[in-house]
Amino acid sequence: MERVNSGIEGLDNVLGGGIPKGSAVLITGTCGTGKSMLCLQYIVKGAENGEKGLYVSFEESREKLLEHGLQFGWEIEKLEKKGLIEFYVVETEDMGKTLEEVKKNVRKNGIQRLVFDSLTTMMEQGVVYRSEISKEMGRIFEKSGGLNFPSDTSNVTRKDVYYIVKEINRMGATSLLISEVAEKSTYLSRDTVSEFAVDGVIMLEINSFGGKPERLLSVKKMRGTPVDLRLSIVEFTNAGIRLK
Ligand SMILES: Nc1ncnc2c1ncn2[C@@H]1O[C@H](COP(=O)(O)OP(=O)(O)OP(=O)(O)O)[C@@H](O)[C@H]1O
Ligand SMILES: [Mg+2]
Repeated sequence: MERVNSGIEGLDNVLGGGIPKGSAVLITGTCGTGKSMLCLQYIVKGAENGEKGLYVSFEESREKLLEHGLQFGWEIEKLEKKGLIEFYVVETEDMGKTLEEVKKNVRKNGIQRLVFDSLTTMMEQGVVYRSEISKEMGRIFEKSGGLNFPSDTSNVTRKDVYYIVKEINRMGATSLLISEVAEKSTYLSRDTVSEFAVDGVIMLEINSFGGKPERLLSVKKMRGTPVDLRLSIVEFTNAGIRLK
């Protein structure tokens, strides 16, 4: 099996040699656990090796991400100028259009490393968009005296999640998909389905019980390769994050 190095010291060992090439891996955790940092480092370290990366952001601006990288001495702008890193800050709520744009970009620019920050936001925006359609249809039905049409689709369906992950998989890059979960949630994603649809799941958390709070990482699954399921401690250094 071909592998892609994660760019995080210590993580490739836990994964039995790296991220299986072409897989889609969910990076899940509550707020502030370091999901965006890990993904940005994955893109930067790849680019430093000549691998092209695309960071699709629904949350933070390019400027903010550049700023985060500065403290670790990452020369992101230089890598952008060389065409090795690209940021795509999504403004539309049309999920279909976003996926289409990303697909085109991956194909055209030969993107090898892809990040969605976050899959959660993209899907929830998609729902907003769709619920607008169903509201409109509801109005039409009402006017025509027809049956009641559900005016709100508050949940992404299981089918939607599988479809989106399949679309991302088909793009061919090795992808990290950020998933946001609420504190104390027992699920690995807000939609409770993503974790089953993807090839791998890496969880980040902050353990604040007893003593000094610690950042922890654990691999929940990685299809096609044995993984070390033990928790690792995540450390910030002046060059980025690494596993202790
Ligand atoms: N050099 C550093 N040393 C210690 N902690 C740091 C350092 N740089 C950033 N952090 C911490 O890392 C966290 C940032 O992580 P990041 O933005 O990647 O989290 P996230 O999981 O993406 O959060 P969100 O869900 O809110 O997007 C912040 O809480 C910040 O305080
Ligand atoms: Mg983030």
